[in-house]
Amino acid sequence: MIRPVITDSEFRQFQGFIFDAAGITISPAKKALVAGRLARRVQHCGVNSYGEYFRLLSSGALPGETQMAVDLLTTNETYFFREARHFELLARTARDAQARGKDFAVWSAACSSGEEVYSIAMTLADTLGERHPWTVLGSDISTRVLEQARRGHYPAERARQMPPQLLHRYCLKGIGKQDGTLLVARELRARVQFAQVNLNTALPRLGPFDVVFLRNVMIYFSKETKREVIGRVASMLKPGGLLLIGHSESLHDIGGDLQPVVPSVFRKPGKT
Ligand SMILES: C[S@@+](CC[C@H](N)C(=O)[O-])C[C@H]1O[C@@H](n2cnc3c(N)ncnc32)[C@H](O)[C@@H]1O
Repeated sequence: MIRPVITDSEFRQFQGFIFDAAGITISPAKKALVAGRLARRVQHCGVNSYGEYFRLLSSGALPGETQMAVDLLTTNETYFFREARHFELLARTARDAQARGKDFAVWSAACSSGEEVYSIAMTLADTLGERHPWTVLGSDISTRVLEQARRGHYPAERARQMPPQLLHRYCLKGIGKQDGTLLVARELRARVQFAQVNLNTALPRLGPFDVVFLRNVMIYFSKETKREVIGRVASMLKPGGLLLIGHSESLHDIGGDLQPVVPSVFRKPGKT
């Protein structure tokens, strides 16, 4: 089949679709990327243009197609122990809570395929041990990445930044057909939870959390969407709790009463 070309007006329809669904702003420079990501759905649905696919998508005639398109239009790049200093801070904060006899709850709010969640869980298991109460919730808008997250099975190269002792303790190395992969240990998989949460809408009841990881997702949002998302996420933090954002992101003008601690780390006022 000859792949149809996406026109400017068709592209704008998908820009509107993903903005309404997820709050994601896609620049015109990404037109070819959008066409590439949706090409297989156009083909699968047996239509001849992106416009026809958009009409089908909007008609609601195909159950699950909206989620499929959201899954394809989100960018899910991630890896274990991304931005390592956040995990050092997490360990110190968890130790501090343990010393005060407090339980410890963490939320990875745009967790993609789960590497961030398991990096948090490994850090807490290593720091607090098995007996101290701690929980980790991972959420994302994409159900496709959440399925991968629940499996906990990854290409080994995603663990390049993982401290070797944690790799050794919490991961099984694939052999035979699974060579070049790793499986997160069952005890750790059983200790974390995953849920679909869209940060662009009112949140379900979650938390409260000691630490929220909201990393490398706001880059896709407009300033107004960022402000709304930050407000919702901050309301799930305990007083004194920490919000961690990606190192290339900023809360300039949108952080509300969150107080900067060090670059990319913010504290909700109040005592833990
Ligand atoms: C680049 S990944 C970041 C993963 C991880 N936090 C990290 O820093 O490595 C961005 C994730 O944000 C998710 N996302 C985008 N819009 C979202 C929304 N409105 N609600 C929840 N998750 C969203 C995407 O599905 C994607 O998995």
